[in-house]
Amino acid sequence: MTSTSEQPVLVAAATGEPEVNPYLMGVYAPVGEEIDASDLEVIGKIPADLNGVYLRNGPNPRFEPEGRYHWFDGDGMIHAVHLENGKARYRNRWVRTKAFEAESEAGKALWKGVMESPKGNPFGNTHGLNVKDSANTDLIFHRGKVLSTWYMCGTPYAVDPLSLETLGAEDFLGTLVGDMMAHPKVDERTGEMFWFDYGPRPPYLRYGVISADGKVASTTDIELPGPRLPHDMAITENHAVLMDLPLVQDMEAARNGRHRLLFDRSLPSRFGVLPRYGNGSQIRWFEASPCYIYHVVNSWEQGEEIVLDVCRVQRPQPRADARTPLAKMLSYLRLDASLHRYRFNLRTGQCLENQLDDDNTEFPSVDSRVVGGRNRFSYAVHISPESTLKFDGLVCYDNLAGAKTEHRFGPGRWGSEAPFAPRDGAAADSADGYLVTFVQDEREGRSELDVFDAADLAAGPVARVLLPQRVPLGFHATWVRADQLEPSRDR
Ligand SMILES: [Fe+2]
Repeated sequence: MTSTSEQPVLVAAATGEPEVNPYLMGVYAPVGEEIDASDLEVIGKIPADLNGVYLRNGPNPRFEPEGRYHWFDGDGMIHAVHLENGKARYRNRWVRTKAFEAESEAGKALWKGVMESPKGNPFGNTHGLNVKDSANTDLIFHRGKVLSTWYMCGTPYAVDPLSLETLGAEDFLGTLVGDMMAHPKVDERTGEMFWFDYGPRPPYLRYGVISADGKVASTTDIELPGPRLPHDMAITENHAVLMDLPLVQDMEAARNGRHRLLFDRSLPSRFGVLPRYGNGSQIRWFEASPCYIYHVVNSWEQGEEIVLDVCRVQRPQPRADARTPLAKMLSYLRLDASLHRYRFNLRTGQCLENQLDDDNTEFPSVDSRVVGGRNRFSYAVHISPESTLKFDGLVCYDNLAGAKTEHRFGPGRWGSEAPFAPRDGAAADSADGYLVTFVQDEREGRSELDVFDAADLAAGPVARVLLPQRVPLGFHATWVRADQLEPSRDR
């Protein structure tokens, strides 16, 4: 399917009236081709000491959607730019999920999206959620492969970071039982990976550890008062932090066969701290004011406290005037978050929280080598006030100096998640490196990969790599360093 801004896609709303779904048009319109291109034109200069791959995941429906389309429904497509010795190569590939293969064979969409009844969909995840697992959400590098994951909990798919070939469903040498959420955490110092799985029936949450040799080394059930929708988690040197947030399924609507989320302000936000290899019975819960949290910035131990930085959403409920399913989708996707810090005192049980910044920033990242340790720098994108989700700039937070530096892409230019890419040989968490992101120019209808000096965002990009096709706006991105690519070169 190759919708463009000139061909708006019409979807039938609950009213029977056609509505234009902006998430299939313009900067979101899917691309139909898988391309390889090398020696790309560059404005500026790719730093010689920046070597590795930028990869970004996102929804890109291969076939015309059946029924109403939600932005989260599209098949996972990875766009990547490999920077090596000052040269750039672009490649994009769909993730070959089981559902993608089934639809490819049929030559049409077989699944309806989350805004339609799942009845008749061929299969779903292990929780009986009969929705297409598209692997379209996050990417994380672990043991020589990139794992492409899905926000509702599904099968992690292993992808080669250079060829973008789908290597298959990752079951961790046959040890993974159940599914995995979208944001597992890797401790690069130990090689372990930490994850959870959630579903609508008890146990509502399971937490586990993948060892450095790639097998599930520990799993434990976490007791919750009901089904929840956790999106992310945190690790520290010795602990894992899980979340029980008061955005819950409306059980009355569920009994009537409808899917509706309810933000219950009478419930606290709860944060569960347990030892990395702990049992669910060892979890300690800390209570804070109600909110929703999509993404964790980082967490670490400081004396007797655990510090957790997140992007906190104060009002996760859609606008009251959003009546049609499409209006509700647009309203839910109006992300409004700000940098927020929690402190959990392991001795006294006290929980403190405070907002660190009031700017609307999200899709946070730190140097991947300091995940779970105290970080000085963190990075995020700035959310534009437009009616659909667009990133209009980059932000760098300096925890030590309490300072913030920023760059705005300019009118009609929209970014992607911008992970930190260290300069070759740079120490961890030193800001000695770059931020890398796709930028799509809405007016020109084209995309580029922009490279920024992380220590001087305000100076603008040091290199703009012009891409051979438009890259639709999407979800999460990661940076894989050249020293992590050896298994790919041998593959
Ligand atoms: Fe996410």
